Amino acid sequence: MSKLKQNVTAADWAPSSWQRHEALQQPQYDDAAELAAATAELARLPPLVTSWEVLALKQALDEAQEGKRFLLQGGDCAESFADCSSPIISNRLKVLLQMSLVLVHGLKQPVLRVGRFAGQYAKPRSTDSETRDGVTLPSFRGDVVNGPEFTAAARRADPQRLIRAHAHSALTMNFVRALIDGGFADLHHPEYWDLAWVEHSPLAAEYRRMVAGIGDSLRFMETLAGPIAGFTKVDFFTSHEALLLHYEQAFTRQVPRHPGWFNLSTHFPWIGMRTAALDGAHVEYFRGIRNPIAVKVGPSVTPERLLPLIDALNPQDEPGRLTLIHRMGHAQIAQALPPLLQAVRREGRRVLWVADPMHGNTEGTASGYKTRRFANIRSELEQAFDIHAAAGTRLGGVHLELTGEDVTECVGGARGLTEADLARAYKSMVDPRLNYEQSLELAMLIVRKSAGAAAA
Ligand code: PEP
Ligand code: CO
Repeated sequence: MSKLKQNVTAADWAPSSWQRHEALQQPQYDDAAELAAATAELARLPPLVTSWEVLALKQALDEAQEGKRFLLQGGDCAESFADCSSPIISNRLKVLLQMSLVLVHGLKQPVLRVGRFAGQYAKPRSTDSETRDGVTLPSFRGDVVNGPEFTAAARRADPQRLIRAHAHSALTMNFVRALIDGGFADLHHPEYWDLAWVEHSPLAAEYRRMVAGIGDSLRFMETLAGPIAGFTKVDFFTSHEALLLHYEQAFTRQVPRHPGWFNLSTHFPWIGMRTAALDGAHVEYFRGIRNPIAVKVGPSVTPERLLPLIDALNPQDEPGRLTLIHRMGHAQIAQALPPLLQAVRREGRRVLWVADPMHGNTEGTASGYKTRRFANIRSELEQAFDIHAAAGTRLGGVHLELTGEDVTECVGGARGLTEADLARAYKSMVDPRLNYEQSLELAMLIVRKSAGAAAA
């Protein structure tokens, strides 16, 4: 398909046309005028990203679809305003940079880095309300909507939070951009990415060997060819679940030099598993924007549901446009994924397949924590590589929930965290995240598995 023939905007679409469809997972705002004032303010404020960057990412995702890049997408389950701080942002960046170094070294191909940050403030919930001791209040839906404290005031859906979410996203984005432009991501200085609390990690030695190997190759090439510009700076893109459609609509803009509509609140928005109905508001909204987009695909999705969704979201089979993130669970993936891979392949549709081994593997512990077992995350990821290899498709990336903080939220991994350890440092407001060691261990596993898949 020629890139010039791509669909720009359907005639029957507008940034607000989603409002004619059923919009799941939206808060109930009690003051329509206050909501309208806040969204008008947002629509006037400058965006967080540009159409140039959005199109550059689409091109890079096209290369990932062609098997020339691997996508590393990761960050918090939910960002919070309180965590918008220098150490938390830079530690998260450090983990992603270290993982990408492991992947570049092992996969021998460029890694495309996409953060779950600078806008990941809205969460889907399984129930609209929560009852404690006979008191029922609206569920917490993320800092862009309401507060986590169990009081009527905190749980009110407050339109002012839309403005604060934009401001916190901009602060995050500004700091990430400044770090990267200032040399923080320079491959000559991987020591900038060391995290103070992990000096004694069991994985540190293997990581250091890789870093030394890369340093040697870099020095060798630069002796021959002089300084190589591409290695002093890496690209970082942003993504979030575009759940709260009033917020997304306010950032849906037209620009002078590119036709069509762009969501300029993020480079790469995705549709969550709970809001991917074909006739729902989210699919309606997403079909009209020119960004590259992703959809989470859970175990209940059949080929009969998936193919019409692909038609709706990418009718022209545009390169780089559509990523499918499967999140099946370790026990379901063997059964649920192959029919989808076969159907998409049979129809010759162009997608990037990405594995999220986190969201299908969440469970509760007897002591009341939400956790994920590293062994199950690992199993889903390993099976994903094998299933793609057997189907003749390519697993082109991973989608992970992780943090650079010393948390104990997922059990297992190199340090053998147990359920008893969860109480020590469980900080997540929503889903359990991988800590630094568990993240690095997963990156090493990806390298081993994809080497196996390539040899098979
Ligand atoms: C998430 O990514 O945090 C999430 C809610 O995922 P899913 O839509 O796959 O359940
Ligand atoms: Co999550």
